[in-house]
Amino acid sequence: MLARRSLNAYADLSVRLAAPHQLQAKPNVSDLAFGKYFTDHMLKIFYYESLGGWQAPEITPFENLVLHPAAKVLHYAVELFEGMKAYRGVDGKIRIFRPDMNMERMNASAVRSGLPQFNGIELIRCMNRLISIDQEWVPHSEASSLYIRPTLIGIDPTLGVAASDSAMLYVILSPVGSYFKSHEAARGVSLLADPRYTRAWPGGCGDRKMGSNYAPTIHVQKEATERGLQQVLWLYGEDHQITEAGTMNVFVYFVNDDGEKELVTPPLDGLILPGITRNSILSLSRDWNQFKVSERRITMTEVCRLLSENRLLEFFGAGTACIVSPVSFIQYMDQELYIPTLDHAEPIHRTFFQRLTEIQYGYVDHPWATPIE
Ligand SMILES: Cc1ncc(COP(=O)(O)O)c(C=O)c1O
Repeated sequence: MLARRSLNAYADLSVRLAAPHQLQAKPNVSDLAFGKYFTDHMLKIFYYESLGGWQAPEITPFENLVLHPAAKVLHYAVELFEGMKAYRGVDGKIRIFRPDMNMERMNASAVRSGLPQFNGIELIRCMNRLISIDQEWVPHSEASSLYIRPTLIGIDPTLGVAASDSAMLYVILSPVGSYFKSHEAARGVSLLADPRYTRAWPGGCGDRKMGSNYAPTIHVQKEATERGLQQVLWLYGEDHQITEAGTMNVFVYFVNDDGEKELVTPPLDGLILPGITRNSILSLSRDWNQFKVSERRITMTEVCRLLSENRLLEFFGAGTACIVSPVSFIQYMDQELYIPTLDHAEPIHRTFFQRLTEIQYGYVDHPWATPIE
């Protein structure tokens, strides 16, 4: 019987709970770092073309994977992932933020990786069940949340560089604290902008969330750390276009040539990840209609000019891990750029942070944050 009700259908989900001796003690919220602890269960869905495609989803105790040594993921980085969060609201309900957008982005990454696409709505249902089983792991604190890491890997036991006939989609959960240490958020982060390095290029995969985009950044991040800087500001091209900061999209808020306030973020031209936080910030800004909003290229030359003319107001990163992260310093070749992001009484990055956390933690009812049950 190969026919399935639907691809990766929730109706076919089976659950094998961890035995009491397999349950782990939960860490203190103060001890949470990013991705250090994992919950007691995980979700797995296998795909075998020879068996008709997606198999029945299963929730199992958290356990190691067994892979053939030739599995494509281990040789050609046939891997992609997502990063999303579940928040425990003020009313005790657990919500996830815009999961449909993560599913859409994950399927787009699957296409580019030669991995099978799946039904996102069914996967959200399966993930919600996983989260409800491990619900005591969703921290009872607004400084923390439960990070959700859906992952899709090619597991064919053959060395050919080809589309995957066999794949595994799995989801693991990790309680996380603040991505940056509190003193970093208070002082703003420092960035290394070195045009010798680039993260993505036209026609490449910078707009897909594939593991192969991240491994080559580690060396550059190490160089930034060695120079006493916290993150890398990724540039592209001879005109040193700003693309992303670390694993965040970038926003620049300034006074434009017409004397009006403008919020600029790089366009979705293939060089940057289409961030869900980015999309949310743009959408809030357009609703508020209090300043000009542009998706366009912005270069380091423009940033230096705005800074020298005292027109640069704020520079910040945006992403699921930190929501917004104010930038206070950029080392750009031999120039030390001090950015006044934190020097304002009511900075807009703070307003975005407050509005998004209000939605995520259920202070307001909003269609972007849906309770898991
Ligand atoms: C390279 C990169 N850019 C931007 C983002 C921000 O995207 P999102 O807001 O969907 O978390 C992320 C994190 O997921 C990322 O890895």
